[in-house]
Amino acid sequence: MRLTPAGPEDLEAIAALVNGAYRGTDSVRGWTNEADYIDGSRTSVEALQEDLSRPDGTLLTVRDGPEGRLTGCVWLESSVDGAWYLGMLTVRPDLQAQGAGRRLLEAAEAYAAGQGARRIRMTVVSLRESLIAWYRRRGYEPTGETEPFPYDDERFGTPRFGGLEFIVMEKTLDSSAG
Ligand SMILES: CC(C)(COP(=O)(O)OP(=O)(O)OC[C@H]1O[C@@H](n2cnc3c(N)ncnc32)[C@H](O)[C@@H]1OP(=O)(O)O)[C@@H](O)C(=O)NCCC(=O)NCCS
Repeated sequence: MRLTPAGPEDLEAIAALVNGAYRGTDSVRGWTNEADYIDGSRTSVEALQEDLSRPDGTLLTVRDGPEGRLTGCVWLESSVDGAWYLGMLTVRPDLQAQGAGRRLLEAAEAYAAGQGARRIRMTVVSLRESLIAWYRRRGYEPTGETEPFPYDDERFGTPRFGGLEFIVMEKTLDSSAG
């Protein structure tokens, strides 16, 4: 799977892909999304522009050909202690449940390992049991840490109820990866 760093010209399509997949607003609904918990958008062109300007982050995209339509994306954030953050892992809903997510995650891990990452950390809404199980099958384990949902920051959407939180999951990368 070929990962390509996103440029400013990709951001509108990435925002549409991510919002459709996370909020279940795509015409085809994927097997996992946040529609039952959170309304509104997961991201915006403005938020992605901020991400792109960060020196410690990379927004990677997958297409169905060199100039083809966007089929997935993932965000990686480097860290001096070798524990990189992975977020916004997204596969176009009509292509889900066919192994693309697993391959995208593996490709992102290899990309990070190639840049010196030794571990990958991520946060998942604690209610998303089937997604947490999916990450466990990919080698991620809860660290026991939790993080509060940013209720005061509308950029991440509008939660339908109180008490949402993230759990932190982590995986140690195979030193031969990358
Ligand atoms: C999470 C995501 C990237 C996975 O992509 P994908 O292409 O569907 O993943 P895969 O095809 O590799 O794996 C599908 C898995 O779901 C399982 N699955 C399929 N339908 C399911 C269902 N209804 N309930 C539970 N699991 C299901 C399959 O068994 C498979 O797991 P396995 O490979 O361990 O057997 C994708 O669903 C997505 O973009 N979701 C919306 C955005 C999101 O929530 N991202 C994660 C944020 S932390």
